[in-house]
Amino acid sequence: MSVDLSVDDNRPWWHGAVIYQLYARSWRDASGDGIGDLRGIVDRLDHLAWLGVDAIWLSPTMPSPDKDWGYDVAGYTGVHPELGTLADLDELIAAAGRRGMRVLLDLVPNHTSTEHPWFVEAASSRDNPYRDYYVWVDPDADGNPPNNWKDFTGEAAWKLHETGQYYLHNFLEEQADLNWWHPAVHQEFRDILQFWFDRGVAGFRIDVAHGLYKDAELRDDPVKTDGGPLESVFGLDPVYSANRPETHDVYRDWRKIADGYSPSRVLLGETWVPTPERMAAFQGDNDELQLTFNFPFAYASFDGRELADIVQRTMAALPPGGCPIWMSSNHDIGRFASHWCDGDERKTRLAMLVLATLPGTTVLYYGDEIGMGDVEVPLALRRDIATLDGGGEGNRDRARTPMPWDATPGGGFSAPDVTPWLPMGDGPGPNVADQRADEDSVLWLCRRLLALRKAEFGGTVADYEQLPSADGVWAYRVGPLVVATNFSDAPADLPAVSGEALLATDGAVPAAPRQVLGPWEGVIMRLAVDDDRV
Ligand code: GLC
Repeated sequence: MSVDLSVDDNRPWWHGAVIYQLYARSWRDASGDGIGDLRGIVDRLDHLAWLGVDAIWLSPTMPSPDKDWGYDVAGYTGVHPELGTLADLDELIAAAGRRGMRVLLDLVPNHTSTEHPWFVEAASSRDNPYRDYYVWVDPDADGNPPNNWKDFTGEAAWKLHETGQYYLHNFLEEQADLNWWHPAVHQEFRDILQFWFDRGVAGFRIDVAHGLYKDAELRDDPVKTDGGPLESVFGLDPVYSANRPETHDVYRDWRKIADGYSPSRVLLGETWVPTPERMAAFQGDNDELQLTFNFPFAYASFDGRELADIVQRTMAALPPGGCPIWMSSNHDIGRFASHWCDGDERKTRLAMLVLATLPGTTVLYYGDEIGMGDVEVPLALRRDIATLDGGGEGNRDRARTPMPWDATPGGGFSAPDVTPWLPMGDGPGPNVADQRADEDSVLWLCRRLLALRKAEFGGTVADYEQLPSADGVWAYRVGPLVVATNFSDAPADLPAVSGEALLATDGAVPAAPRQVLGPWEGVIMRLAVDDDRV
């Protein structure tokens, strides 16, 4: 099967699909410099085709000084020389297409690198035509910034520039926030979308999707000291420094551009908001983003009741025609095999079964397929400036380490004598080759789950219904299937359903109808046609 983006087929291919987030610097180093690259990805695409993913989302690929590893973009229509060339990216899109897979890029519209030519121009004088591309403010009478907004490191989000004004940076000071009140910024990004869509890019993951517009009056963010990382930023609720209603107009505009292509290009937002309802608002009346990351789900405890509640609320909040999306690993929040599963393989298998059987779109992060956990990166080897001070969960390098392809020195990521940009991690963690050779492995379970997902849900957002079940058990009907999962250390009764068992977390087809689920076990069944829930 190959993907022909010129075919006039507007079915949303992402419905029922699996997108694989591929951190390009850490997947496969073909050039031998210790950094993953586009040619390395082309070389290993067969792994993804074998696994059964429908699309790849590449972490930032555009030129960047790498203060924030590509999230500080210095040019929106190029390729970072460390990763390859535009021709390599064209080849990757074509090679993925030949294997039936599409390619999404990461787009960063909230800010640019201060090395981007727009900022260099803007900073050159107060009357430069690019000045208004960014947010500039005069110091107050005491020389202070205009408000209390904080950046990603907890410091003031304003940098006093030699031209006598402050500029806004909600992330690092080398990442200047764009001024979305300025019409020229809108036109620049329309052109950027079209540039990539015309090249065959299937869509974008949109960085900081909730952030673009800032309050016109630059009011102080209210103090909020309770709540988790989705609710407050260093003790402030970002209601004015982000989350402004005008941002929705941008997505309505972009959606028209995306829908102008056949098939429609997909816009997947990094909607960093604390509730499913606020997340769903970014899908509008199904006229804004088609997909919106569900961080309340990703951050939930690994508890069936809590997850079930978020799934139910998500399904209720989406607009007609909307599509949910599920994941719990990425390059910021870490890997689910660690934060959900604590390295317990039974839990990792259960998490995978849940992710693969929820309706809509599932996103796996590279390494999830082998149950890879976070890697402890010694302080001296850490590369993420923004979280250098943070231990444990605050340290983002832990989930950006090279993909372990095999057990050889270098892990099959780079040549054995090359030092990778981040360490592989000590000790015998999981690797692809060993698991590929073992049909009982997590990798094979993942592959079977994705095949089942494609066969049962491909092209659809299956309807979802929570079923009554015993304590500790989360059971749901999804399309023609029933999924029963035991989120406890004790055996649990299965809900009474008549039907055929298809797959369990041990990777096998259960031999006989099951009445009991083992601790942290999950099973997928097909409802018998005479069951009135079908
Ligand atoms: C997003 C990215 C993160 C980056 C930040 C600023 O949250 O996922 O890695 O640091 O935006 O661009």
